[in-house]
Amino acid sequence: MKDTAINVLKILEESPGPVSGERIAEQLGITRSAVWKQIRELRRLGYGISSSRAEGYRLEEKTNRLLPYEINKKLRTRVIGRQIRHFDNTASTGWIAKKLAAETDPEKLHGMVIIAEEQTGGVGRLGRAWVSPAGGIWLTILLKPKIPLDHLFMITMAGSVAIARAIRKEYGIAALIKWPNDIFIGDKKVGGLLLELAAEADTVHYALLGIGIDANISLTELSSPLKDILTSLKAEVGHEVDRVALLARVLREFELRYQQLEDGEYDSIIREWKSLSMTIDQRVVIKTINKTFAGEAIDIDARGALIIRKDNGKVERVIAGDCFQF
Ligand code: BTN
Repeated sequence: MKDTAINVLKILEESPGPVSGERIAEQLGITRSAVWKQIRELRRLGYGISSSRAEGYRLEEKTNRLLPYEINKKLRTRVIGRQIRHFDNTASTGWIAKKLAAETDPEKLHGMVIIAEEQTGGVGRLGRAWVSPAGGIWLTILLKPKIPLDHLFMITMAGSVAIARAIRKEYGIAALIKWPNDIFIGDKKVGGLLLELAAEADTVHYALLGIGIDANISLTELSSPLKDILTSLKAEVGHEVDRVALLARVLREFELRYQQLEDGEYDSIIREWKSLSMTIDQRVVIKTINKTFAGEAIDIDARGALIIRKDNGKVERVIAGDCFQF
């Protein structure tokens, strides 16, 4: 959103009643037709603005898009989300992040958040498609980690904890983490995370933490089998949720845990992850690329590997795979 549009919006936000185009023009030192152009732009961005010849413009309703201007009002972070790129529609926020990181020094992009209202080619774990219609929260956080390589997976753990905590704080719903990086409410998935690393030998160029949260999505729009295994915040809470407030909260909770990671406070993240886990101490069936086996999930390590005590008593570490719980 351009500065002039923001300035027009601020005048409308601050005014208790309608404001004439002439007054806005005068206040900003622009022409009345320039004001009209900005009003048109604000309407396109989803702001409900009424206009009457006699009285002028009045802000009736704020946008429900995840616009940087709206997020900034609620954001309580120092670094994460201090730079935001917003897209109405894109293939994948991860793809945009990679493009940006290839063009600019990732150090300068650290903490940047890329948001899309809708993704046409969303990517999930193990290369699966991630359905991303309008109403969800689809974002990628670009990071230049100052974390030892063997602890990088903990970025996902920090993100999972942040989302579960944010949902709990905003709606009082007992969101849980299912290994490896799914967010569940009851027995249904409401969100997922995907960590991608651009690394080489012992250097990490950048890390991308992709986050998808099914916020204001009507389950009736989803086809089976998705609607049998997914839920949305709207379905759980019973009405549309304030996506801006939730996103700002997720970013804040994430920043706090990311700071702990940078400070080497790994134990507190692992402890918190475990306390929110629906997988630890449960009977699970694990499916990796080359085998399927059952056992009890007994722990998680700093690399995010799940520790399973198999039915034959042997203990196995699983780094990647699908986990089924009954
Ligand atoms: C999973 O559970 O499989 C992880 C899903 C991650 C989806 C998010 S949505 C924003 C970002 N862009 C993508 O294409 N994927 C991630």
